[in-house]
Amino acid sequence: MKKVLLVTGASRGIGAATAMLAAASGYAVCVNYRARKDEAEQVVEAIRRAGGFAIHAAADVSKEDEVERLFAKIDAELGTITALVNNAGILERQMRLEEMDAARIARVLATNVVGSFLCAREAVRRMARSRGGPGGSIVNVSSMAARLGSPNEYVDYAASKGALDTMTIGLAREVAHEGIRVNAVRPGLIDTEMHASGGEPGRIDRLKSSVPLQRGGTAEEVARAILWLLSDEASYTTGSFIDVSGGK
Ligand SMILES: NC(=O)c1ccc[n+]([C@@H]2O[C@H](COP(=O)([O-])OP(=O)(O)OC[C@H]3O[C@@H](n4cnc5c(N)ncnc54)[C@H](OP(=O)(O)O)[C@@H]3O)[C@@H](O)[C@H]2O)c1
Repeated sequence: MKKVLLVTGASRGIGAATAMLAAASGYAVCVNYRARKDEAEQVVEAIRRAGGFAIHAAADVSKEDEVERLFAKIDAELGTITALVNNAGILERQMRLEEMDAARIARVLATNVVGSFLCAREAVRRMARSRGGPGGSIVNVSSMAARLGSPNEYVDYAASKGALDTMTIGLAREVAHEGIRVNAVRPGLIDTEMHASGGEPGRIDRLKSSVPLQRGGTAEEVARAILWLLSDEASYTTGSFIDVSGGK
C-alpha cells in the first residue's frame, strides 16, 4: 500500500527532520508550513535530491478552512493519507501566567490544540475503515512540558501539550477498531529555533546540566522515535508516549 504522510509545521526543526527521514523510508510526504515558503521548498528539494517524493503546502492549522484545503490538496496530489504527524506548534515569550493576556493564550491553544484536533479529524475521516479508508497512524508531537508545567516560562504552552496528551489517549481508544493507531512523542530540550521564539535562544545551554544525558537533543533524534511509532514495527502500540528527553 502507498504510504502517504502529512507532517504539519515541516518547514524547519523537528517537522523538517521527520519529513526527510520519512521520505527516505518510502513515504510520499506533504511538507506543511505556515509562513516560511522558502524553507519548505528547501525541505522538498532535499527530499527530491535524495530520491524521495514530496510536495509542500501552506496552511495555518489553526484555521478550519485552511486545514480542509490542505487535506483536499493531499487527496488530489498524493492520494489517501495513511499517516499524520501533528507537529506544528508555537510558544510565545517567556512570562509568568499573571502577565499573560487572553489573545496570547488563545493563539497558543489555537495552533497547538485546535490545529492538532482539526488535522486529526480530517485524517480519521479518510483513514477509518468504516468510511472505506485503509487505516493509518497518527503521531502527536507533545512535550515534556506537559509533565513539567514550564513554570515562569510558558504555562500556557505546557497546558496545550497536556491537552494533546489527553487527546492522544482518548482518540487512540476511539479509533482503534478503525485500524488507526494514535501515539505521541514528548521531546525535551531539542536544538531548534523554538527557544528563540520564547526570547531565549541560548535556553538549552542554560538548562542542559539538568538533563541526565547532559545535552540537548537533535531534531533527528525526535524524528527517529516518530518514525518508529508511525511504522508497522509499532503495530501493537497505541495510546502510548515516548519521552525523547535525555532522561529528564
Ligand atoms: N524544540 C524543542 O525543544 C521542543 C520540545 C518539546 C516539544 N517540541 C514540539 O515540537 C514541535 C516542533 O517544534 P520545533 O522545535 O521544531 O519548532 P520550530 O523550529 O519553531 O518550528 C515550528 C514549525 O511549526 C510551523 N508552524 C507554526 N505554527 C503553525 C501553524 N499555525 N500552522 C502550520 N504550521 C505552523 C512553523 O512553520 P513556519 O516556519 O513556516 O511558520 C515551523 O515549521 C512543536 O509542536 C513543539 O511544541 C519542541
